[in-house]
Amino acid sequence: MDNKIKAALIRSDKNNIWHPFTQMADWLNNDPSVPLIIDKAKGSYLYDVDGKKYLDGGASLWVNLLGHRNKKIDKAIKRQIDKVSHSTFLGLTHVPAIKLAEKLLEILPSNLKKIFYSDNGSTAVEVALKMAYQYWQFKNEKRTMFLSLRNAYHGDTIGAVSVGGADLFHSRFKSLLFKSCFAMSPYCYRCVYRKNEIKFPLNVKDFKDHNIQLGCRGECIKQVESILIKNRKKIAAAIVEPLNQAASGMIIMPKGYLKEYANLCKRYGILLICDEVATGFGRTGKMFAVEHEDVKPDFICLSKGITGGYIPLAVTATTNDIYSAFLGKYEEFKTFFHGHSYTANPLACVAANSVLDILKQDKILQKLQPKIKYLERKLTELSKHDKVGNIRQRGVMIGIEIVKDKKTCNSYVHKLKLGAKICNDIRKHGIIIRNLNDTLVMFLPLTITNQEISAIISAIKAELNNLLII
Ligand SMILES: Cc1ncc(COP(=O)(O)O)c(C=O)c1O
Repeated sequence: MDNKIKAALIRSDKNNIWHPFTQMADWLNNDPSVPLIIDKAKGSYLYDVDGKKYLDGGASLWVNLLGHRNKKIDKAIKRQIDKVSHSTFLGLTHVPAIKLAEKLLEILPSNLKKIFYSDNGSTAVEVALKMAYQYWQFKNEKRTMFLSLRNAYHGDTIGAVSVGGADLFHSRFKSLLFKSCFAMSPYCYRCVYRKNEIKFPLNVKDFKDHNIQLGCRGECIKQVESILIKNRKKIAAAIVEPLNQAASGMIIMPKGYLKEYANLCKRYGILLICDEVATGFGRTGKMFAVEHEDVKPDFICLSKGITGGYIPLAVTATTNDIYSAFLGKYEEFKTFFHGHSYTANPLACVAANSVLDILKQDKILQKLQPKIKYLERKLTELSKHDKVGNIRQRGVMIGIEIVKDKKTCNSYVHKLKLGAKICNDIRKHGIIIRNLNDTLVMFLPLTITNQEISAIISAIKAELNNLLII
């Protein structure tokens, strides 16, 4: 692109736009080559307006599932545009949404029988929280609290923030929020009860072994139980990101933790919400994260990858028990009064139908397994680097925590912005990844190749070797 036109676009962006999760003072002060202006995409790559290509190592904020510009999804959306792009879902329905609900119910845990549509991950969570809250009213129980975990992230709307446990994002809004209880995060690497050094907790066999190997006291799950015992008649639902607290730096739960969390909810009569907005649709290696531990929650929240990263769509799936509690005569006003303008957008629904067809027909999850193994091998090599404190991986979701001192696990001071600096340097290799503090985060499309994985790991290694600070 002509340099003058490009400079004018960047000026216009800086004058007129406020970007999400961005310190705008930094954005305004960046050197003139930043920001990247994305023009087009293909497969695992984004292209800027100068035609330079970048491997999309964060799957465009974890939404891109099957690569960019997948021919089948493109075609399905174009076909639907020639029919209707949007019609309300209040009082009307349409074929793409009907077909999608059928397909989802075929692959979701068998106890889930009803699909409620909305349009982003946060609202999928809001819907589950509000349904759970209203459900207990119908049971004549006053349950106004929720159980969540420290380091949890469920979105940015106020309900989702109320069950959020990432202080950096959430603590500022504390006085606006409804009451939730928080148990400690199963963040083994920085667990205060840890006695032994953790080398690489990828091979943890099960939660029992985990306790023995890591010398931990299982304190995280014990806290869940003690909160439930104390508040069992006040808690409407417990919410959890199954297997991975992704937005806090890919905090991978030890094997067995999720099952135990679900068992405790069952034992104490608490509804369980599994937020699969990040983990759903194969990112863990199985279609849904709950499948790894045979967990059957009362609600599953889905979004992000559901449309392959094309158009916003979200789903809250629930049981017949929850659904039927809302049935009644019109004048009883048991209706679930919740809905959004773009609920079940038909273009989004055809994209999602197409994604589910491709996952099945192209055997995407079977083909993914050797790539996950390859990724594990590459990460095991990288874990030896003396700046790598901890690598956390589940499927194609990876967090690489950079530390100042591998022995003590001490981090660098925040003001060095080391994670952001490394990601900027990696961009020079034609690779885009993001950091969460000093954890480098990768979230890969299921169609990634071994060659692309190798390129990302090599770039990270090269830039860690180039670090001048000690
Ligand atoms: C587990 C989880 N839940 C909810 C959300 C919120 O989704 P959205 O950004 O679409 O509102 C996210 C986003 O990263 C997430 O990771």
